[in-house]
Amino acid sequence: MPTNGEATMKVFVTRKIPDAGLSLLKKEFTVDVFPSDRLPTKPEIIQGAANADGILCLLTDPIDSEVIAAAPRLRMIASYAVGYDNIDVAAATRRGILVSNTPGVLTDATADLAWALLLSAARRIPEGDGYCRDGKFEGWAPLLMVGQAVTGKILGVVGAGRIGTAMALKSKGFDMTVLYHDTQPNETLERELNARLVPLPELLQKADFVSLHVALSASTHHLIGEAQLRMMKPTAVLINTSRGPIVDETALIIALREQWIFSAGLDVYEHEPRIPKELLELQNVVLAPHVGSATIDARANMARMAAENMIAGLQGRLSPNCVNPEAYRKKSRG
Ligand code: GLV
Ligand code: GLV
Repeated sequence: MPTNGEATMKVFVTRKIPDAGLSLLKKEFTVDVFPSDRLPTKPEIIQGAANADGILCLLTDPIDSEVIAAAPRLRMIASYAVGYDNIDVAAATRRGILVSNTPGVLTDATADLAWALLLSAARRIPEGDGYCRDGKFEGWAPLLMVGQAVTGKILGVVGAGRIGTAMALKSKGFDMTVLYHDTQPNETLERELNARLVPLPELLQKADFVSLHVALSASTHHLIGEAQLRMMKPTAVLINTSRGPIVDETALIIALREQWIFSAGLDVYEHEPRIPKELLELQNVVLAPHVGSATIDARANMARMAAENMIAGLQGRLSPNCVNPEAYRKKSRG
């Protein structure tokens, strides 16, 4: 518990995060960590936030206008994630509450995971693993578990932000042709990879591997639906490490079942944590439990970064990773 300065401010942390962040917070504030080893419910978030000056939340916490309205002292929402579609940023901005995220520190971890899923889905690794464990392997066979080649193929990256760029750059070792789709050109990709900016339909028609790296918003919801899946090659692999609702999951299930595409690798789901039974029953999809940033390094850095954002915001400075700086200007104008 801090001893210096004004009456200490209170920070509600919605789930235990690595000590690298908690210890920084505890030096400055009274820290109240949600005591259970499960996600808090919305009423529990409202209760925890009621007399908090700051909330350190996870991507699974709905920090909507109701939570914000129930927290009269709230001045800072520091999210332990890069994506912040779970937070009503407009409602926070109207109250002059700063919102921050943790960009950068999880970029490589997430891009690495996209590659892990890509290779697994192309070469049927989990399916082969199950086959071995079930005692079915009876020796080398010409047609056993044949998958898709990766080296020399066409990679299509949808969303060339930090993570999409890192994912594309890692294709160098596989000697791939890179197409990307974004709202603006990406000089790094064009210079380093000779990558070409193309409309989404062209990317979907040409790419052997399509990897999704856009943030979730009204304009990216179901960006990949039936029409888009039908544009893809029957040999193509779809990778999603961004947010579940970017893909129409019902359409994807049909596409996988009817083999409009070869396979998919998913880290995120439309109605997380629920994974549809139909998806669990398919062999041509690799499933990960939303672990894009789940490396020891990334999680410690995220904790530190979220704590630093919280400290800056509650001490009246602009948090280094503030996503709504207009809230700060509003507050400093008084
Ligand atoms: C993970 O999905 C994140 O947004 O940090
Ligand atoms: C994530 O932060 C991205 O820009 O891709």
